[in-house]
Amino acid sequence: MSSLLEVRGVTKSFDGFRAINDLSFQIGGAELRAVIGPNGAGKTTFMDIVTGKTRPDTGEVLWGEHSRSLLRMNEAQIARAGVGRKFQRPTVFEDQTVSDNLVMALKAARGPFAVLGWRPTTASIARVAELADEVGLGSALTRTAGELSHGQKQWLEIGMLLAQEPRLLLVDEPAAGMTLAERELTTTLLRRLAETRAVVVVEHDMDFVRRLNCRVTVLHQGAVLAEGSLDHVTRDQQVIDVYLGR
Ligand SMILES: Nc1ncnc2c1ncn2[C@@H]1O[C@H](COP(=O)(O)OP(=O)(O)OP(=O)(O)O)[C@@H](O)[C@H]1O
Ligand SMILES: [Mg+2]
Repeated sequence: MSSLLEVRGVTKSFDGFRAINDLSFQIGGAELRAVIGPNGAGKTTFMDIVTGKTRPDTGEVLWGEHSRSLLRMNEAQIARAGVGRKFQRPTVFEDQTVSDNLVMALKAARGPFAVLGWRPTTASIARVAELADEVGLGSALTRTAGELSHGQKQWLEIGMLLAQEPRLLLVDEPAAGMTLAERELTTTLLRRLAETRAVVVVEHDMDFVRRLNCRVTVLHQGAVLAEGSLDHVTRDQQVIDVYLGR
């Protein structure tokens, strides 16, 4: 299998503490993957390394068909190469409408120079509607983002990320603060998005992970402890000892 992202032998210490310890991880081009593991296992740090926010001490992070090194790129270059990241707290512009938020994301996706003198075109208006539809906000285009529910804000932010047309989407703890109905819609959304791109989801909510119905990687002390179906990893005695049986 040729992978879209390959992390190979990555180590990262903070003040002598190994948050990531010889981590190796691969994800395919159109794959949904859940990453679980106890607090402090290194899940967020892994995303920080892939997105260029944190530099590892050793190892390689390889991207795409030509195995380009993401470690030679800065955060903006990595985003432009096709890595999108969804943070836990939605960062939508609360005073703007859903539509305006998506327009801003489209402008940003076109780069700083395209913003000057930019006017909405028929194509971009259609793209905004398409992005809104993709995240279930097609009928909320004229609503102010601040009026949306927490879950809807998260979906809007995912829609804004999709404006950059990422090939890999990293999502850290999406279920937090969502209602059960929102969590169910979110699993459906993430599964659909992973049909055409890679999606890596970090989540503690096991019901949410079960509904994702995908391969699961268990991290512990900065390395992969187990990998496979949720049923497979939840039967693993080591996984039970360090995570599930707490
Ligand atoms: N910038 C930093 N400076 C110092 N220590 C850090 C930094 N970032 C992460 N760490 C440490 O690295 C370890 C891994 O943290 P990380 O946030 O990646 O864990 P996590 O698996 O995301 O945990 P959680 O499930 O609680 O979100 C923790 O011990 C954390 O304190
Ligand atoms: Mg975390």
